[in-house]
Amino acid sequence: MASLSLEGVSRRFGPTTAVDRVSLEVADGSFVALLGPSGCGKTTLLRLIAGFEAADDGLIRIGGDDVTGLAPEARDLGMVFQSYALWPHMTVAENVGFAKALWTLPKAEAAARVGAALDLVGLADYGRRRPAELSGGQRQRVALARCFAKRPRVVLLDEPLANLDAHLREAMLVEFRRFHRETAATFVYVTHDQAEAMSLADRIAVMNGGRLEQVAAPERLYAEPATAMVARFVGAGQLVPVTVAGSVGPGRLAADLWGCRVELRGDDVTGPATGCLRPRDLALADGPDAIPARLAFSTYQGGFWHLELVPEADASQRLRLESDRPPPAPGSRLGLAVRDGWVLPGR
Ligand SMILES: Nc1ncnc2c1ncn2[C@@H]1O[C@H](COP(=O)(O)OP(=O)(O)OP(=O)(O)O)[C@@H](O)[C@H]1O
Ligand SMILES: [Mg+2]
Repeated sequence: MASLSLEGVSRRFGPTTAVDRVSLEVADGSFVALLGPSGCGKTTLLRLIAGFEAADDGLIRIGGDDVTGLAPEARDLGMVFQSYALWPHMTVAENVGFAKALWTLPKAEAAARVGAALDLVGLADYGRRRPAELSGGQRQRVALARCFAKRPRVVLLDEPLANLDAHLREAMLVEFRRFHRETAATFVYVTHDQAEAMSLADRIAVMNGGRLEQVAAPERLYAEPATAMVARFVGAGQLVPVTVAGSVGPGRLAADLWGCRVELRGDDVTGPATGCLRPRDLALADGPDAIPARLAFSTYQGGFWHLELVPEADASQRLRLESDRPPPAPGSRLGLAVRDGWVLPGR
């Protein structure tokens, strides 16, 4: 198994800088998710690591060795594509055994590896079928088995669940965690789905416009977004203008929000700043400290209502929250309490 290290890696396509000076350390055996919106450079970064794309600048090391300039086959990686990339004319077992890494092995050993890989993905009895005779989820498992039969040090996965329905995706998430445990390989998993990234990865690297915005454990990324982009993209953060008055304890700040006093989490920020409020940080409230707002609209979501409120102090803002009580008519005046929130570092 091996660590993976990127140092100032860039890739330009004409005027587009698809990957812009990315530096990232992935520890041996860890699971990193590359998360970001469409077009932010995730696939390009994965292809650079795999060697299908050449970097214009920077250094890529696998297990401490510089692999810049090495062909994909020489990098000892497994890659799983969104499209599965199976050969239609080959059986499942032939597809799994097709990796170049297996050609040089004695026949019996190669066959044993294919058997073990199919076992791992629960397709031991499907070796003689062809891809066309399998469901989407089974095809994805064949692609995974083909990757694991090579026993690569690093496994790269590009949106491997994008073509599967929600139910199957859920089941495959459990399998990915199991594969990771059982293979002990280093995983880099590309997705634009934050729930997938959160549930799988030890660390999430958020990409935006070719650059890394923040690299952190899922809980930290959610609780302490470093930038406005991360705050919005992960957990539907709503950004509001606050003025921080001072500290009220370790990691806690007193701030003014539209003339009301709120307490938020944050470090070393004073004066004008940006607060990140998640829908679940907000609640309806009465009393003198509540922020006056009007209900713009509500929708029933099954068990709870989704509300959108406009604070009276700033008609350009919309605040979303959830409530388990039937809301009043649109236009009604309501009070809003801020139960939790985070002050972004810097402005
Ligand atoms: N071969 C190429 N030639 C020219 N431009 C490219 C090429 N490959 C990617 N790009 C551009 O580089 C940028 C990043 O593309 P990339 O495919 O890496 O994004 P992505 O994050 O994987 O997006 P998605 O989530 O839609 O798959 C995009 O602006 C894309 O148009
Ligand atoms: Mg992509």
